[in-house]
Amino acid sequence: MTIRAAPSDPTREALAQHARAFATAFGPGERPRTFFSPGRVNLMGAHLDYNGGPVMPTAIDRGTFFAARPRADRRLRLASASEAKGCELDLDGPPLERRGKWADYPAGVIELLRRKLPRAGGLDVLFGGNLAVGAGLSSSASICVGTAFVLDRMWGLGLSALDRVNVALAAEREFVGVQCGIMDPHAVGLARAGQLLWLDCKDGTSQHLPLDPARVAIAVADTGVRRELAQGAFNERVTQARAAFEALAPVSPGATCLRDVPLAVFEAERGKLEPLLRRRAEHVLHEVARTFLARRALESGDLALFGQQMFAAHSSLRELYDVSCEELDVLVDAAADSGGVFGARLTGAGFGGCVVMLIDRKQTASVADHVARRFESRFKRRPPIEVFGGDAGPREIFE
Ligand code: GLA
Repeated sequence: MTIRAAPSDPTREALAQHARAFATAFGPGERPRTFFSPGRVNLMGAHLDYNGGPVMPTAIDRGTFFAARPRADRRLRLASASEAKGCELDLDGPPLERRGKWADYPAGVIELLRRKLPRAGGLDVLFGGNLAVGAGLSSSASICVGTAFVLDRMWGLGLSALDRVNVALAAEREFVGVQCGIMDPHAVGLARAGQLLWLDCKDGTSQHLPLDPARVAIAVADTGVRRELAQGAFNERVTQARAAFEALAPVSPGATCLRDVPLAVFEAERGKLEPLLRRRAEHVLHEVARTFLARRALESGDLALFGQQMFAAHSSLRELYDVSCEELDVLVDAAADSGGVFGARLTGAGFGGCVVMLIDRKQTASVADHVARRFESRFKRRPPIEVFGGDAGPREIFE
């Protein structure tokens, strides 16, 4: 009889390693509690969240690791397994200030949650993970929602999943100072394994939609391009979309965001819009229509139609929203002619980062090989391509 070893759980193993790194960072003592919080990819609804539209993200099995141990005093010490400059806070002392470092993300969450429990005890927390940072996989929402989860459990706050999402969002907007939309913290905080999240960003309602893992694999190819000024360029898109809405609002009775403007109204008015704002609005309004169509396609099992919407989204992001780059376009074109991909597009804000591909599961290896070769022949380096599993959202991982 052959005895097979139980399948290994990479996240559990990596967290055990993280717990050992904790002892190096903070010294020996009681074993820390360990937690995981995923990243996300967005399959449809590109740049729609801050325009009130629908989005279709899903959490991935790569994310942020946390190891946390209570302290006898009221100090909080934060350190990272990979980054310099942690931070320390005395819970009886003045609030933390923003420093422009990774620790701003958890610090923002701590500042909001410490108010809920004036007698909270001190903690040592080590952060780490296996998610590429700045690659469009939402490392910031992963760390913020995850920190809210860790503090909720360590301090016994009794927060709901939605409370944690909202704290994470407020921390990014108010403390870190990024005008991010609502998609990323919801994608992380409300995740269910093997399901896409349908989030209507106008009213915040959501549903989970199944994606059959036997038929499709989600893979991500990383361009390796990280644009320094991406944050400023993202905020610029938010401002332009708002300006487009302001120009169209007077002729769109009852509209409260760009998503509400009827396509027919936009078509009638397009000649009167400034060209840049016209292109931004055109992307948003057609992407809204594509995202509803993609949902219907998914519900009827038509993955080819779903994938076509992803390719169309990428073209629109390139031509009308100006957030793509040559490396992303080469990856999407390679995916399109690989023969085994339903759809592909840039994920996250763009300006570099990653392409997400929805692949026919049986053809995963040949597609990855084809896409990597095409990229390599153009840029003389191989892009990392990884297949991601789904994820069930932030949780404690027991030994
Ligand atoms: C970034 C933002 C999200 C969303 C996407 C674009 O990832 O954080 O809120 O706007 O870009 O879809």
